Amino acid sequence: MLILKDVKRTFNPGKPNEVRALRGVNLEIADGEMLAIMGASGSGKSTLLHILGCLDDGFDGEYSLSGKSVHALSRRELAEIRNSELGVVLQNFGLIENMSVADNIAVPSYIGRGTDKELNKKIAALAEKLGIADKLKTDVSELSGGQKQRVAIARALIKSPKIILADEPTGALDRENSRQIVAILSELNAEGYTVVIVTHDPGVAQKCHRTVNISDGVIA
Ligand SMILES: Nc1ncnc2c1ncn2[C@@H]1O[C@H](COP(=O)(O)OP(=O)(O)O)[C@@H](O)[C@H]1O
Ligand SMILES: [Mg+2]
Repeated sequence: MLILKDVKRTFNPGKPNEVRALRGVNLEIADGEMLAIMGASGSGKSTLLHILGCLDDGFDGEYSLSGKSVHALSRRELAEIRNSELGVVLQNFGLIENMSVADNIAVPSYIGRGTDKELNKKIAALAEKLGIADKLKTDVSELSGGQKQRVAIARALIKSPKIILADEPTGALDRENSRQIVAILSELNAEGYTVVIVTHDPGVAQKCHRTVNISDGVIA
């Protein structure tokens, strides 16, 4: 369960370039849910997803993740909970282009290639599941957008999280690849993962259980 209470995020506070990206977000996400977050460009979607993903703790208000208040956690505890609970798929993939698919998937494990049998087995299983098994040794720079998104999802899954947060996972993809990526996320949700998708595509939101709309940093 993820609970946000009156979450605010201001960039460059007090400066001429101050941006109040989130102005008091209240949101509860239940275990096993598949939620779409929709909103115009600049409305605060990525800011919200980064906070949900524990990638940004510079917010005001309360964020409780699986019963723990994120602000109350030490750096170490935060890193631990981020690793064990959350798999984040960043906007525009967030992959390291000049590294192989297998090494990209391994990044959250902080373990170099070829040293850990268990890790390699897991990478192989995830690659199989996501249809990129034949690409493991290929550099990410040589992949199509749809393939890159599959790698990003595999990387998000490597630490066996409970919650998958995806920022515009179909934003850079054509129709058929978008359909396939949403089908993968739906399948993961059916397996028990909580799935949160930021999107501006109503067709993607339609595949989710619930949609919330964010506008000017608040949920409508
Ligand atoms: N690191 C940052 N520094 C300053 N402003 C930012 C930063 N990140 C986002 N913003 C601003 O916050 C607002 C919300 O951005 P964002 O959450 O990325 O919107 P969305 O993902 O909905 O397009 C925008 O005005 C954006 O320019
Ligand atoms: Mg965004």
